[in-house]
Amino acid sequence: MSDRPAASSTDSSSTAPEKLWGGRFEESTDRFVEAFTASVGFDQRMAVEDITGSRAHATMLQRTGVLSAEDEQAIHAGLDAIEADIRAGVFEWSVELEDVHMNIEAALTARIGDAGKRLHTGRSRNDQVATDLRLWLRGASDHAEVECRRLLDGCLDLASRHVDVIMPGFTHLQTAQPVTFGHHVMAWFEMLLRDLERLRDARQRLNRMPLGAAALAGTSYPIDREITRDLLGFDALCENSLDAVSDRDFAIEFASATALCLMHLSRIAEELVLWTSAQFDFITLPDRFCTGSSIMPQKKNPDVPELVRGKSGRATGNLVALLTLMKGQPLAYNKDNQEDKEPLFDSADTLIDCLRAFADMIPAIEAKPAVMREAARRGFSTATDLADYLVGRGLAFRDAHAVVGRAVRHGVENELDLADMDYATLSSFSPAIGEDVFEVLTLEGSVASRSHRGGTAPESVRQAIARARERLASL
Ligand code: ARG
Repeated sequence: MSDRPAASSTDSSSTAPEKLWGGRFEESTDRFVEAFTASVGFDQRMAVEDITGSRAHATMLQRTGVLSAEDEQAIHAGLDAIEADIRAGVFEWSVELEDVHMNIEAALTARIGDAGKRLHTGRSRNDQVATDLRLWLRGASDHAEVECRRLLDGCLDLASRHVDVIMPGFTHLQTAQPVTFGHHVMAWFEMLLRDLERLRDARQRLNRMPLGAAALAGTSYPIDREITRDLLGFDALCENSLDAVSDRDFAIEFASATALCLMHLSRIAEELVLWTSAQFDFITLPDRFCTGSSIMPQKKNPDVPELVRGKSGRATGNLVALLTLMKGQPLAYNKDNQEDKEPLFDSADTLIDCLRAFADMIPAIEAKPAVMREAARRGFSTATDLADYLVGRGLAFRDAHAVVGRAVRHGVENELDLADMDYATLSSFSPAIGEDVFEVLTLEGSVASRSHRGGTAPESVRQAIARARERLASL
């Protein structure tokens, strides 16, 4: 048996508290409809923001002469007590009161009487909920930023300890050219730094205040939106009341930045999963980030990266849900928007948790330089260097490519890497090959030669890390 209220039936009307909007209604809400339309089960997460917004609204109403000083004081004292109850977990939420806003307003009136009834002057739940959501998301975004910065610092730490460690670089997951592990980690840094930029960029548009838009058209009370804006720490006002109460593009932007960041974390996770496998064996993750198998005693599974990879799907799903939620809505507020919260909360939670897990884990990665080096040595990763050497000796690049191709085929047939062949063998592929060829066939020579800005040479990576520290600090 379901413990949820049954769908429509004749005797299903509510016996609960009078609705705050009940005046024009002849019959009370159907029990199921009441539960179906309520959001208090999830929007109570915005309780503190709701109270913060109400405090500022009451202060503004008092300063503009709409509320008396006594009413304002009573409202503040009442809201303080309610906040304390909520934080202590003793506040009684009621589905009959539909959402966080009406629960708190009803509790306020129960506590302080008529002054509580005056709080909603010049305000609507429409501008209230839009304000609460922006305040909540601002806090969540700032939390995500802290974790993202910690992760970026972790990348810099890991990279700076491995600027000279050589590993194979891949295309098509096939060994391509040698790179340094520090360079690879700095690629992660670049991806994640753009994610941080996106979060901060979205925050600018997020941090604008809807309050004052009221239901949709503004209010006839002599409000001063600058006072509330300043009290609530918004950078600017939403300039149009219809837009202020209706659009959730700020939530979509956050969900989009989250989906991109989780996509990046998922790609990094995939590399960690591959690299911890016995087949690659490039790194180990400390035990605290792994779990065992209940049946196979030898197993140490990279659960944290796998779970992050899996959770990236939520972030994509939430973004699509929010875009779809918004796209059919005419101006201004529609109840559809109540559905914005759960996907948004989930995106924020997922982002913060995944960044946190990675921020802890990334700097704790233990590289295995000898294994990485051996993998780079196998697989002809310096073939391009040999071709470039031949170009230096006057061959056209295409001809050089063909010469090296023949040398590689010989290597494959005889299980020899290029650097393993003797000079007589190598020079048989082209008279342009001199005895100095072995200098370019070494892994160290190969990476060191890519010493321009953005290249994989240890010196370039050192400089990239130094610049990255400054870029991060200035963001
Ligand atoms: N719970 C509602 C929401 O989340 C609050 C706004 C309700 N406004 C209204 N006109 N029904 O969107």
